[in-house]
Amino acid sequence: MNVDQSLTLQRAAAEFADAFVVMRDAFMAASEDEWTGGAVIAHTDPAGYLETIRSWSEGKNLPPDWCPADCYLIFADDVVVGQLDIRHPLTGHLRQYGGNIGYHVHPGYRNRGTATWALRSALQMLEAKGVAEALLTCAHDNAASIRVIEKCGGRRIADSPRRRYLISTSSRS
Ligand SMILES: CC(C)(COP(=O)(O)OP(=O)(O)OC[C@H]1O[C@@H](n2cnc3c(N)ncnc32)[C@H](O)[C@@H]1OP(=O)(O)O)[C@@H](O)C(=O)NCCC(=O)NCCS
Repeated sequence: MNVDQSLTLQRAAAEFADAFVVMRDAFMAASEDEWTGGAVIAHTDPAGYLETIRSWSEGKNLPPDWCPADCYLIFADDVVVGQLDIRHPLTGHLRQYGGNIGYHVHPGYRNRGTATWALRSALQMLEAKGVAEALLTCAHDNAASIRVIEKCGGRRIADSPRRRYLISTSSRS
């Protein structure tokens, strides 16, 4: 099933805390924690977490070695099914770990094209900012993310310390 038609992006904001918590708890139930390290506040203060990542777009409250980031929640109707982060301009750290675009999708909503749709949306937004090529990084054993990146035209340029891909923002095939 493909849910492209009903997907929308909303900037992270405290008003979405209740919907965000449903997704966060689904990750935890699947023994996946996307909110460790500097993001652990997502467990104790979800509204504060969403406001913090919202402020990253203004260059405020950034993790060490990070650049400004536009953080979105991915909605399927009124359900939060994922998160999309777009980072620009990259720091040296993000060139090795993280790249321009990060995403994760609710375990109950995978393999429906959500991450592919989100990545294509991110590429479009980076193109609008004048970025010709986006850098993506990925673990070697993350088969789903590798598939998403390669479906969107990713060209593998390095394997260490993570797989790194470049994608032309104008050809989001
Ligand atoms: C990676 C992730 C974002 C993919 O989200 P998604 O919405 O399921 O992705 P899509 O549905 O757009 O595409 C997934 C593709 O991977 C394929 N896939 C899934 N599991 C796979 C596996 N184990 N081996 C090979 N391909 C696989 C799917 O078949 C699909 O390809 P297709 O469209 O050709 O059939 C999601 O698995 C996730 O959130 N993982 C944890 C966080 C994470 O890894 N984020 C990325 C960090 S780089």
